Amino acid sequence: MSAHRPAAVVVLAAGEGTRMKSATPKVLHAISGRSLLGHVVAAARALDPENLVVVVGHARERVTAHLTEIDDRIRSVVQYEQNGTGHAVRVALEELPALNGTVVITAGDTPLLTADALRALVATHDAYGNAVTVLSAEVPDPTGYGRIVRDAVDGSVLAIVEQKDATDGQRAIREINSGVFAFDARLLADALTKITTDNAQGEEYLTDTLEVLRKEGHRVGAAIAADHREIAGINNRVQLAEARRVLNDRLLERAMLSGATIVDPASTWVDVTVEFEPDTVVLPNTQLYGATRIATGAEVGPNSTLTDTTVGAGARVSNTVADSAEIGEEATVGPFAYLRPGTRLGAKSKAGTYVEMKNATIGEGTKVPHLSYVGDATIGEYSNIGAASVFVNYDGQAKHHTTIGSHCRTGSDNMFVAPVTVGDGAYTAAGSVITKDVPAGSLAVARGQQRNIEGWVARKRPGSAAAQAAEQASGAE
Ligand code: UD1
Ligand code: CA
Repeated sequence: MSAHRPAAVVVLAAGEGTRMKSATPKVLHAISGRSLLGHVVAAARALDPENLVVVVGHARERVTAHLTEIDDRIRSVVQYEQNGTGHAVRVALEELPALNGTVVITAGDTPLLTADALRALVATHDAYGNAVTVLSAEVPDPTGYGRIVRDAVDGSVLAIVEQKDATDGQRAIREINSGVFAFDARLLADALTKITTDNAQGEEYLTDTLEVLRKEGHRVGAAIAADHREIAGINNRVQLAEARRVLNDRLLERAMLSGATIVDPASTWVDVTVEFEPDTVVLPNTQLYGATRIATGAEVGPNSTLTDTTVGAGARVSNTVADSAEIGEEATVGPFAYLRPGTRLGAKSKAGTYVEMKNATIGEGTKVPHLSYVGDATIGEYSNIGAASVFVNYDGQAKHHTTIGSHCRTGSDNMFVAPVTVGDGAYTAAGSVITKDVPAGSLAVARGQQRNIEGWVARKRPGSAAAQAAEQASGAE
């Protein structure tokens, strides 16, 4: 595609986005794990333009800081006053060296636009030798968009008329301007000097350049998008939710076609960065975010939220919240587990029901089946941690580490008061509070001796149901 390499892609992102009713600039709102602007930049970057420019204005410090984070080769240009889309492009071109070739203009609020659609636009533009090619679409409801006005006889594009400037007849047109264009760079720069602010909004409309160019005898064309949903511009949070749904469906479709079973796409949400190997299964009501990766044969869900988590081949994760965790091959997690950052579960290991882990390395085959907190710990291979155990890692000032060896059997209801070490093959008795290291192979018992005070109930609770039951029991003996 290097034949179609644009001289520049200019992304317009200076507007405030008042209709979002938000303290966050519109283009920084996120769907599917990326800001709206991040989606646009990713599609633009795929064209490999010589210059990638974003016009910033409203909340420019935040927008520029965000851009630096996502792509440090972007040039941001400040449009101090938002005098319209034409003005925004003019400001951008004035900051760049004189360009030759194709300039693509797009908006920071059209996150569904794919790199393929942009490539197709540029290819059409080049093939026809146009001065400008607008990406248009036929939409069910054109309200708010600029309308593509065509010649009644030959169907050629005459102009774009904004909603606020349109006649009733023009408002009935359902072919709209997506806000995305391919321009000949030099003709664009020239046309921008000829547009006026003589319109309903008193702004320099980029869209007016089409009529200027056509009247000067240049070729003006439109490429109609195959799927009108792709060009949707986000102006409010209803549209934000709609776009999120469309993008999510697209991501899940890709996952399914590459071999993942998504049992209920309607209740499954994924980020663009999530990866599935073939033969994975995702059960309903599951959210997969960030750099989450599901290996082959693994099953995740139902009711699970995984962020930046890797799930090994054949693992099972049910009713779980996990953040920055590594789940080994054939491990089982949940139901009702909470894996916090730094949890590393070895192959065939288990983090069971009502188990919370944080900064914990669990060896191959080791099980923590029930009701436990494992924080700041290393456990070897094939050990079993008894139900209701707590790794007491915090003394009120600092966190401390617990180490448990391989092939250990620790009793139920143990407290491991860190820092403490339990050696390989050691046992601990149920109810123990382990405060001292346990040597390999020994049994540690750390609890009060049981004392039975006979006849206590008859003396202290005479006449009670308990006393009667006790009396009957002794009579029956
Ligand atoms: C614009 C188009 C309209 C099109 C629609 C598609 C114009 C005049 N109208 O209308 O034909 O159907 O997009 O979504 O071009 N921006 C700046 N600086 C400005 C003004 C806008 O950077 O001075 C940016 C905005 O941040 C936004 C984009 O340009 O990302 C479009 O601006 P917006 O105000 O949303 O235009 P629309 O009224 O939607
Ligand atoms: Ca818009």
